Amino acid sequence: MKILAIESSCDETAAAVVEDGRTVLSSIIASQVDAHIVYGGVVPEIASRMHAEAISNVVKQALEKAECTMNDIEAIAVTYAPGLIGALLIGVNFAKGLSFSSGKPLVPVHHLRSHIAANYITHLNLEPPFLALVVSGGHSHIVNVKSYTEFEIIGKTLDDAAGECMDKAARALGLPYPGGLNLDKAAKDGNPKAYNFPRPKVDGCELDFSFSGLKTSAVNAIHNAKQKGEEINIADFGASYIHAVVRCLTANTLKAAQQTGAQKIVLAGGVSANSVLRREFEKLCKENELELYFPALGLCGDNAAMVGAQGYFEYLSGKKAGLELNAYATMPIDNAVF
Ligand code: KG4
Ligand code: ZN
Repeated sequence: MKILAIESSCDETAAAVVEDGRTVLSSIIASQVDAHIVYGGVVPEIASRMHAEAISNVVKQALEKAECTMNDIEAIAVTYAPGLIGALLIGVNFAKGLSFSSGKPLVPVHHLRSHIAANYITHLNLEPPFLALVVSGGHSHIVNVKSYTEFEIIGKTLDDAAGECMDKAARALGLPYPGGLNLDKAAKDGNPKAYNFPRPKVDGCELDFSFSGLKTSAVNAIHNAKQKGEEINIADFGASYIHAVVRCLTANTLKAAQQTGAQKIVLAGGVSANSVLRREFEKLCKENELELYFPALGLCGDNAAMVGAQGYFEYLSGKKAGLELNAYATMPIDNAVF
């Protein structure tokens, strides 16, 4: 069964054709990075306009590359939440128009669910249940994935997301957007023990995260050094900081695995591309005899192939939207209504 998938939640306009949730027949991504780079981050109005300009061509290319017409497509999956509202609306409205004109059903897909589903493409034998660590620009969740369409959040950030934490420190260090990726590169040969960062304490659920103190301490240290005219070693600072963030992620994920008895750990979201995160999780899972899965690098960031993967399982579970489907800036992963 072939699904045409559309993604426009942030700064990539993407479309893909995916067969049976696991086989990617085409995946087209029009990145807007060059347009946002001068502003140091994503400008929502520019993102919406660029999605509107790119979307019909991106969808056309996805169908052509998969050697399909709409007659070969069984359903249209689209990211409807969470994300930048103006950006989401472009994809949702395009998908609605296509659904209306072709008569094919419309399947609403939650963005973070699709990040998890990127792993179904990379690991053809991976099946729930498992524990997922979802780390993106706006979210940091530990999720108990009970089935392809049943999710329970068991740990979450109480303030900033891990990706936001990476981006803000990168910006303060003067690294260009996209910050997380450039911080990862700049820190490659750095000494992770060169700088000290506080270990965040969280009141409440011991599986929850708090990154804002860590982020503020990094930004303050950079500003203080600048004021005093002191040089910061970007590689060492970046390596120490990334390790401090990753330490929180590994510690809570291990606690969550021990509490739930989970055997499989799945990493998902843009931050799962981070080289330190991948290495530290490999160590952790080896030491604790847990199976580890993370997406191929090209599937960590936003793309439509992952939307086609999750869309397939949502469609099988009976999820279908009418033409009144709306987009939502926020939406919990465990109760994704539409
Ligand atoms: O999942 P994603 O592409 O978009 C959202 O749904 O938010 O995640 C974007 C986040 C950004 O904060 C970006 O800096 C971070 O993922 N990111 C990274 C790396 N690549 C992307 N963070 C650390 N290391 C990386 N290599
Ligand atoms: Zn994303």
